Amino acid sequence: MSFHYEQQQLRAESVVLGELAQRFGTPLYVYSKALIEANWRAFSEHWPSPHQLCYAVKANSNLAVLNVLAKLGAGFDIVSVGELERVIKAGGEAKKVVFSGVAKSAAEMATALNYGIGCFNVESVAELHRLNEVAGEHGVQAPVSLRVNPNVDAQTHPYIATGLRANKFGIAMEQAADAFREAASLPNINVIGADCHIGSQLLNTAPFLDAADIMLNLIMELRSEGIEISHLDMGGGVGIAYQQEQSPDIGAYLTALRERCERVDNLTLMLEPGRAIVGNAGVLLTKVEYLKPGSEKQFMLVDAGMNDLLRPSLYQAWHDIKPVKQATGASSQLYDVVGPVCETGDFLGHARHIAAEQGDILAVMNAGAYGFTMSSNYNSRPRAAEIMVSGATAHVIRERETLQDLWKGEQLLP
Ligand code: LLP
Repeated sequence: MSFHYEQQQLRAESVVLGELAQRFGTPLYVYSKALIEANWRAFSEHWPSPHQLCYAVKANSNLAVLNVLAKLGAGFDIVSVGELERVIKAGGEAKKVVFSGVAKSAAEMATALNYGIGCFNVESVAELHRLNEVAGEHGVQAPVSLRVNPNVDAQTHPYIATGLRANKFGIAMEQAADAFREAASLPNINVIGADCHIGSQLLNTAPFLDAADIMLNLIMELRSEGIEISHLDMGGGVGIAYQQEQSPDIGAYLTALRERCERVDNLTLMLEPGRAIVGNAGVLLTKVEYLKPGSEKQFMLVDAGMNDLLRPSLYQAWHDIKPVKQATGASSQLYDVVGPVCETGDFLGHARHIAAEQGDILAVMNAGAYGFTMSSNYNSRPRAAEIMVSGATAHVIRERETLQDLWKGEQLLP
């Protein structure tokens, strides 16, 4: 299953990746349906009832990916109306949607209320008041959870840590109880939950459990005042192994979380995993355009750049890079693997031992999460195509953008 070499060819399930590159061109994102499903089941199997798992759409929002998950009964964590419309188009149920994000517009709130989403994860008192108004105009009560910032150190890259006081997310712990009281007093707000999300790519689950303890104490305090919080949403953040790291054991994490939550009666637990569902289920295929021996370094120039996969440039993220064909006769040498974009920061990997020659295809591994969704048209580069493999079949799930797509909607002056 998943990505493996067989007869020296890297495959997605039973499809040879080199053949996909030939057929559909590069750069090319390729996902494994079986692996997405297996990753989902690793969560859903260990999840107690009542429960709700909401896949974080931002990790990979392709309609086919969302549809595969919707068929497994997934809920969805969205951060924009664009993501909401994708979920609906892909067959997701509005009532299983939670809406996160620090700066929701009134128009976004109205659309989400019309669809009847399950919960607004509100991040500030100002947002609470706006939602109260918008819900009033619609003659409905908005289901609300307040996102609390539990001030725990997620021990991850500073750009993806979100649970510290210094971050823009959520309501500070010291102000949380008052914010809940205020929410409970507003006529068009129905307080149903409390949520947090302390960061992404956590390899150690201790900070999640610390945060859960803090959230449970808060929920008990609020319930003692008659504010009936019925669910706790612990957000996403479970990390995956990009290099040789030990990724968290999902079963052990969920069991520990469940045990803690047993302290509080009738509490529905929710999670919003993104990366852990799709991260290792995708690769980015790229072609070696040139080898360029420099005076200090050797460069491997490839046809995918930071516009296709931003993570290395933005977070110094490490992704394994492998030739899709082994033992081609090329000798393994030390390269900086760099893209075609005119930026020094445009690289996929520094100082990598790779055996490949001009024209060979490489796979950038673990690119299924925050790969395509963070891609752009910078340098007027059309975005890559996306393929989903299922067994021996490859489905095009997004066509490569054309040059015409690049200037769609642009106008010359009259
Ligand atoms: N819930 C909330 C409220 C979030 O903000 C996020 C991610 C998630 C769930 C899903 O987290 P995950 O399970 O995927 O860790 N672009 C960065 C990651 C940014 C994550 C932002 N929030 C990267 O490529 O590493």
